[in-house]
Formats: sequence, structure tokens, C-alpha cells
Amino acid sequence: MPERPRVWVSQPLFDDVVARLGEHFDVVATARVTQHGPEAIAAALREADGALVTLNDPIGAAQVAGAGRLRAIANVGVGYNNLDLPALSAAGVLVTNTPDVLTETTADFGWALMMAAARRISEAEHWLREGHWRQWSFDSLLGGDVHGTTLGILGMGRIGQAIARRAAGFRMRVLYHNRSRLPEAVERETAASYVGFEELLTRADHLILVLPYSPQSHHLIDAAALARMQPHATLTNIARGGIVDEDALADALEHGRLAAAGLDVFEGEPALNPRLLALRNVVLTPHIASGSLATRRAMVALAVDNLIAALGYGPDAGRPPS
Ligand code: DGY
Repeated sequence: MPERPRVWVSQPLFDDVVARLGEHFDVVATARVTQHGPEAIAAALREADGALVTLNDPIGAAQVAGAGRLRAIANVGVGYNNLDLPALSAAGVLVTNTPDVLTETTADFGWALMMAAARRISEAEHWLREGHWRQWSFDSLLGGDVHGTTLGILGMGRIGQAIARRAAGFRMRVLYHNRSRLPEAVERETAASYVGFEELLTRADHLILVLPYSPQSHHLIDAAALARMQPHATLTNIARGGIVDEDALADALEHGRLAAAGLDVFEGEPALNPRLLALRNVVLTPHIASGSLATRRAMVALAVDNLIAALGYGPDAGRPPS
């Protein structure tokens, strides 16, 4: 019997969903959530025809140098900044990601984080749990409004557009900035207006980051960008931590140059900037924007389909090209 292709699954995902890989492949699974070192990833890929990986697994030229049989990597996530695409493409490795299935869940969470930051929900809960609530008071923990304000969206892909659609219910003005302007029909449907980057910063009451991380977006939100924002504004980041200069953000929040922030992603995650941890006016969550059970299962299912198809076992396998 010919040897079956071998796939490496880098993290424990949903066993019942991943089990489908076993119909075609020998599966080498990882039992516990693991931060694999660069050498360990290289060793695992050396023996693999395909891999199912997550954003915890950085893979570049060094990891695929000895991986002579590797043909495909399926990333469980829409963002793929953990993968060095030019290096993988040069090595002949096909890469897939999981767009679409997480769009609405991630947009929901962006809203939750933005509203929590604006209305000081996390701060209020801490205050209450710490036993400070003696009597109802008219002027404690007052936040900023969300309804009727201007929402700024930086990055107007699928998730940015889903966030924009939700703003209609809050009677907000929606401004966006993106690498390229969207077709008129999409602008109409999302009721969003294109503006330049600086105008977005200066006009947004609530700015939300939903753009991909790349060398171009590294620290795009730096001290100069933050200085353009209004002091009552909030900043929400559900994209990648490296887009924001965290020390500059901490400066702005400490000195009242920005009202609040909602952060789901961090530059050195899981390590956190201690200055952000010390601040009350920041809501911090551990990279869970796509984390509803249904969506995380759908992401793994799509990644499994992608890997099966990329290794030539999908529904179209064996069919002549049309
Ligand atoms: C993604 O898909 O890129 C998220 O950040 C992880 O779920």
C-alpha cells in the first residue's frame, strides 16, 4: 500500500473537526497548546506533506529549508502575518487562510470592545468588585456616547464593512480609510465615506483598527497619529498589536489625550506592556475577537477543507481542469 501523506497539526484544535484529516492522511497531532520554537517547527515540517497551524506558529525560510515534502500550510485564521509568504512561495508551499467564516463574530466583538471602552464597562466592574460602591451616584464612572457619533474604521475589508453595517442602528456617521477606495455600491451599502488617513484620525470619535499587519502598518498608530485624535475619542484594536506603538498609546491615555482604548491584540502577546496593564481606561482581552465556539469550529473546519484540497484530496480531485 502506498504511504499516506503526513500532516502536522501544530496545536490541539477541535478533535472531532480535525478527525476528518485522518480519512486521507497520517496525522501527527500536538496534545497541548504549545509555543513551538523555530527548531521544533522546522523538525515537524521536515517530515510533513502538509500542516495545520495557527498564529502561534511563525514559519519562514528557516523552517521550510529542510522540508522537502511540504506542499501546503493551512493557517487557522484570516490574518497570516505569522507566515513569510515570499519564503513559502519560493519553497513551493501553498498557503491558505480562513476568511469569511469569522467576519460577523469578529465585527460583533469589535463593537463590544469599543462600547466597553467608551462606557467604561471594565473599569466599572473592577470598581464594583473591589467593593467601592457605597451608594448610587449621579456622576461616577461617566463615559462617552457611542450612538450619534462618528465611527472611524481603518481597514475596510470584510470585517471593516461588517462593523460599518452595524453602525446604522446607532445612527452613526461612518468614515473609513483603506489602501484603496471601495466601489461606490459598497460605500452606499455600508453607508461609509472614504477619507484620508489624517482626516480619519481627527474626525473619529471612535476609531477601530481592522487592517492587516505588514511592514507598512507597523506602528502606523504612533505618537503623531495619536496626537491628531480628539481627547474624548477611543481607540479599539482587533487587528494586530504591532500596528499600535503601545508606549505612545500609554502616554496618550495617561495624559488624557485619548479617553480610552479597547485592545484585543498586543505587540508581544501574550506578554503585555506593563504601562497598559496599569491603566484603568483600557479594556484588555486576550485575542478573542473571533472566539465564539461556532466560529472557532468553523475556522478549523475551513482550514481542514483547505488542507485536504491543497493536497489534492478535495471534491475536485482527479477531475480534469474545466
Ligand atoms: C485571525 O483570524 O487572524 C485572528 O486574529 C485569530 O482568530
